[in-house]
Amino acid sequence: MDKFICEGGRRLTGTIEVSGSKNAALPILAATLLADKAPCAIRGVPRLRDVLTMLDILNELGVDASFGEDGVIRTRVRNERPVTAPYKLVSTMRASVCVLGPLVAKRRQARVSLPGGCVIGVRPIDLHMKGLKALGAEIGVEHGYVIARARRLKASRIYLGGAFGSTVTGTANILMAAVLAEGQTVIENAACEPEVQDLSDFLVKMGAKIEGIGTHRLVVDGVRSLHGADHTVIPDRIEAGTFMIAAALTGGDLRVRNARADHLGALLDKFSEIGVHTSVRRNECRVRGSRRTYAPVDVTTLPYPGFPTDLQAQMMVLLSIADGISVVTEKIYPDRFMHVPELSRMGAQIRKEGPNAIIHGVGWLSGAPVMASDLRASAALILAGLVARGTTEVRRVYHVDRGYEKMDAKLRAVGANIERVVDKKLVEVAGD
Ligand code: EPU
Repeated sequence: MDKFICEGGRRLTGTIEVSGSKNAALPILAATLLADKAPCAIRGVPRLRDVLTMLDILNELGVDASFGEDGVIRTRVRNERPVTAPYKLVSTMRASVCVLGPLVAKRRQARVSLPGGCVIGVRPIDLHMKGLKALGAEIGVEHGYVIARARRLKASRIYLGGAFGSTVTGTANILMAAVLAEGQTVIENAACEPEVQDLSDFLVKMGAKIEGIGTHRLVVDGVRSLHGADHTVIPDRIEAGTFMIAAALTGGDLRVRNARADHLGALLDKFSEIGVHTSVRRNECRVRGSRRTYAPVDVTTLPYPGFPTDLQAQMMVLLSIADGISVVTEKIYPDRFMHVPELSRMGAQIRKEGPNAIIHGVGWLSGAPVMASDLRASAALILAGLVARGTTEVRRVYHVDRGYEKMDAKLRAVGANIERVVDKKLVEVAGD
């Protein structure tokens, strides 16, 4: 299995290109199940392990779906009988649960393996189930599978509230079911992340009727059928944010291209507080890091447009070298701190207290062998390796390959000293 070796201390300079959003692409691919026999073309999808898993699931569900030589994913529904998303695929990727809504809406039945726990938290799907039940599906869990059945779904008023606010893939699932339900559905407290907006835009292109896109209140007028559509997914705001933090960390000067500043407001705001210079042009965020130290800052992760939980680990690396004490509060996944002990091995001083991490900036980190536990923790450890003195070895980088397209090659092209090596002695464990 692969690992990364980083030699820290190089400034990142030049231009780096952001890929399409993984978390927008996955539900959009699931939504192609809703199309009649007409094809869909989905552009700008990153070639990632999670995307390939979604294509496998679609194939299993009777949809011809694959990357063309031009990099476009084309899908066409071939057989509407299959309704099972099996454990062997779902267990490798939680977002597989996004096929639940489209299956029950279009095929009147769904049998989707429960994804199970993962290292960043418990991650239940009770809100997905509550929403589908409100639309008239009979839904329950049998032998590790969510089983849902319905005649034509009936519109309803659904409030999507859980202990930690709304749910991103839950909103996607219910939206994908509501577009074919009979009557007008209102989803209150819907997630309004850009990825949900992008899915809504795709569904509208397929013929769905959705009002309130980008707000917490979605009003959906059900239609009888949806057709194929051609869509380009939005840029990946988390990949963009990761590169922007890398530029700041290394005191670099990086133009992050295909980055939507309007999706990155919370990060840009924190940057201005701590002293990272940014300038925004159409589709590009330029980050000029400081050669001196940064000011500490408190960061709380929140639903969009708040600071994204998917950038929390990377931001913690930056705060680890700031001049003073910062507090990071995790409001989405209170246990998402697997990177803390690994960063401590590199000399960071972080104390965890419940959903808070108190970070005493130490000025510099030192290279060490570290273990990646999940996608964003892996990205954080790579960033730490880029700024640490000496050599950092990041193991289990298959997590990174699930969510970042050619991260090592992209970073190398802007000056990072990072190599991928194959270590056959390491044995793969299940993904998150
Ligand atoms: N929650 C419930 N019940 C539910 C669903 C969620 O209590 O039925 C809770 C979760 O346990 C969590 C909170 O609500 O505490 C938010 O979870 P959400 O459902 O919004 O997360 P998700 O849809 O499973 C997506 C992203 C995650 C990202 C979160 C939060 C995809 C494929 N995944 O997950 O991305 O962290 O939203 O923004 O879109 C990643 O890319 O690394 C990643 C983990």
